[in-house]
Amino acid sequence: MPHGRITNFGAGPSALPVEVLEEAAQGLLNFEGTGIGIAEISHRSKEFTAYLAGVEAQIRTQLAVPPTHTILFLQGGGTAQFSAIVLNMLARHRLLHPDLPERERVLDYVLTGSWSAAAAKEAARLAAGATVHIAADARTLSPSGAAFDRIPPRSAYAFSPAPALIYYCENETVSGTQFATDPADPASFPFDLLPSGTLLPLVGDHSSSFMSRPIPRLADHAIVYAGAQKNVGPAGLTVAIVRQDCIVDVDAAARLGGAPVPTALAYAPFAKQLSMPNTPPVFALYVTGLVLRHSAALGGVEHYAAVNRRKQAKVYAALRAGEAKGVLRGHVQPGSASWMNVVFNVLGDGAEARFLAGAEAQGMKGLKGHRSVGGIRASLYNAVTEEEVDKLVAYMHEFIEQAPVEQPALPSEAAKTE
Ligand SMILES: Cc1ncc(COP(=O)(O)O)c(C=O)c1O
Repeated sequence: MPHGRITNFGAGPSALPVEVLEEAAQGLLNFEGTGIGIAEISHRSKEFTAYLAGVEAQIRTQLAVPPTHTILFLQGGGTAQFSAIVLNMLARHRLLHPDLPERERVLDYVLTGSWSAAAAKEAARLAAGATVHIAADARTLSPSGAAFDRIPPRSAYAFSPAPALIYYCENETVSGTQFATDPADPASFPFDLLPSGTLLPLVGDHSSSFMSRPIPRLADHAIVYAGAQKNVGPAGLTVAIVRQDCIVDVDAAARLGGAPVPTALAYAPFAKQLSMPNTPPVFALYVTGLVLRHSAALGGVEHYAAVNRRKQAKVYAALRAGEAKGVLRGHVQPGSASWMNVVFNVLGDGAEARFLAGAEAQGMKGLKGHRSVGGIRASLYNAVTEEEVDKLVAYMHEFIEQAPVEQPALPSEAAKTE
């Protein structure tokens, strides 16, 4: 590895392609031949505004974003979107249905992990009389009743008839659950169960799977958003793909009794001013643009979908081999498991610490699981190459081979004499 780098399986911020980082280092000194570094140049300069248009075009082409949707570049991460989606979608609902009693404005949330649970919690804070309805809670299906370990089956969903918002998180970074892309797969998102007849108020958090594979039924979404810091760039940039009917005049909604919406969270000023009503995250946008160019040269999202499919298959195969030997245990039910974040335990006293130390000795870092679920988490984002994944898989097999075989418990001395 050049520059003394190791293999980074961290969950975010996470690995970026070395070629991109080398180019970005040049750009810090001299952005696109301007003689000014990217962190120093005006965001209103013609060079930067042209660059920004290029970033937008890359996303639009690579994800086949339809003309009905506007691409916005925002700040505040996924966390700011937990609030923004509620405020903008409630404002839209109020403009459409000004006389509805507040409690009849319903926000549907599908809970499949800690990030969707956090989003629902924020919705409850901001609902101001509207109703937050949990359309499905995967925890209730787990053996303990408390673990996010699966995507719910179709029978577990109860959507409201005319909600103001329907929310899901496509890939749960902490628990390692992800919706399947094949509509015939029981773990796919249940588009078939959603209310029909109107433009769907469907909002997807795609933070940890953005650009890793095509987005199923993107055109049917009101909003898809993603923090950049997993697959496409540094922290500080949030990409939101917003259907135009969801870019509303929040002040008009406030005049009808809605909550005032902070300007920085309203979509309309960003849509009107090409994502620059104020200073955008210039450097994060720059690196994201470089990552997207790099990705386009390789074949875009389709390329990553094929590579990511192979990567995850290899890691889960090693995990299954470890399970068969009683050394490893996956956190997620097969069929619901994430391509991006593979979460598992290493069984036995001190075994996880040994696994992590052994990995680090071989130059692999960032494998420690999130503090809320523990264990191991291997994040296989786009910039983690197949060769790096092969190295992890070889290490997993080596660890499994060397693990002491569990002996059946011997009868105690007392039991022998009974
Ligand atoms: C799926 C998902 N949603 C939301 C967030 C919150 O994002 P941020 O830390 O950018 O606010 C994260 C963070 O890791 C995430 O993984």
